[in-house]
Amino acid sequence: MTPPAGRKSVLVFRELPADQLNRLQQAHEVVIADPRKGADAFFAALPGVHGMIGSSFTIDAALLDRAPQLEVISSVSVGVDNYPLAALHSRGITLCHTPGVLDETVADTVFALLMATSRRVVELSVLVREGRWTRNIGEDLFGVDVHGKTLGLLGFGRIGQAVARRAALGFGMPVLYHSRRPVDLARHAPELQGRAAHAPLDELLVRSDFVVAMLPLSESTRGMVDAGVFARMKPGAVFINGGRGATVNEEALLAALNHGTLRAAGLDVFQTEPLPTDSALRLHPRVTPLPHIGSATFETRHAMAELATTNLLRALAGLQPPAVFDTAAL
Ligand code: DGY
Repeated sequence: MTPPAGRKSVLVFRELPADQLNRLQQAHEVVIADPRKGADAFFAALPGVHGMIGSSFTIDAALLDRAPQLEVISSVSVGVDNYPLAALHSRGITLCHTPGVLDETVADTVFALLMATSRRVVELSVLVREGRWTRNIGEDLFGVDVHGKTLGLLGFGRIGQAVARRAALGFGMPVLYHSRRPVDLARHAPELQGRAAHAPLDELLVRSDFVVAMLPLSESTRGMVDAGVFARMKPGAVFINGGRGATVNEEALLAALNHGTLRAAGLDVFQTEPLPTDSALRLHPRVTPLPHIGSATFETRHAMAELATTNLLRALAGLQPPAVFDTAAL
């Protein structure tokens, strides 16, 4: 059905907070259809749709072909690895995302994993719950310190820098980072000057007590953390992944835990999500797994939805949205 003049057709493919849904409904004709709950309504809406808003669903080039009038996709996420960037670019469809508003919250999650893995928080909490705290714990259940240890960051975007601030300013940790280019700290993160340094990958791996992957997923980062990377890590290192699961070779991670010298791993993201129940990572005694909760707080998920809604409304009005992803950049 053609919307009334001035109004466009918007497909909401993941639940939005009521106030943001209301903003969309004031301006446009809105169809709510989450493909994970039932594909029929979602696919039926595609032919007439001008704008889409949602997250955590793979949209490929074939799906785009079913939406010939599509002008903009507004993702309620910072990561855009589930969209067909080249096809979006060639069709001239705008892709928006939500950088900035989730940095501190995701960094909090990464730090929770850092603390949980090194101090064995989940394992020891379960021991108490199960009534196995019958005497003072001995060395077999001791953890390792976090403060003062060296943190190595793979990826040093906004979230990586937020992790570095916590480590350097709160925990007195020297920070090494590896990224395509050194970051001009004086300009972008003056508080990290003298506290964080760009390092070649080998040097970072050899020196870091904690290696934290905060990599976006692209063809150049897929599987980047492989057996060779784990083999070069310092004996007893802890590995954390707060970026994207597919940047890590999970077989190699398991081998490093079982046969190598990796002390523990804290994982918020996995190659396949939700994590298959038969994954060896699920019950591994030295893995702390989380269900991709990096940005999952009330405040931050609302801020992401608000930014995504603003992105969509502005794009459909022919105005510059605040956060457009450059689909030609990768
Ligand atoms: C994102 O926004 O890409 C995050 O993975 C969500 O937690």
